[in-house]
Amino acid sequence: MKRPITLTVNGAVRPAVVEPRTLLVHVLRDDLNLTGTHIGCDTSQCGACTVLIDGLAVKSCTQLAIQCEGQAITTIEGIGTIEELHPLQAAFWEKHGLQCGFCTPG
Ligand code: FES
Repeated sequence: MKRPITLTVNGAVRPAVVEPRTLLVHVLRDDLNLTGTHIGCDTSQCGACTVLIDGLAVKSCTQLAIQCEGQAITTIEGIGTIEELHPLQAAFWEKHGLQCGFCTPG
C-alpha cells in the first residue's frame, strides 16, 4: 500500500507517494525527475547512484525512500552550477577525470 512521504532534496521539501519497498533512487529519478542519479548495477556495486544523506555518501539503491524522511538529501543537481562548479566537479574538469561519464554523478 502506498503512503505519502516528504523528502528534503537539494534544500527543497518534496512530497512523494511510495510503496514501503520503494528505493530512494527510484523516487529521485522517477518521481522527482532528478535523473542525474543513475542506476548502474542495482546491486550496490558501482556507486553510480550515490547521493549525500546528511552529508554522508550513500548508495541510493540501498536505501528505502521512507527511511530518508527527515534527512537532507543532496543529488548531483544540488551541488555546483555551470557558472560555479563544486570543487569536486572542478577537479574532474581540470584532471579530465572521466571515462564514459555514466557513473560520474555518483
Ligand atoms: Fe550501482 Fe547503486 S546502482 S551501487
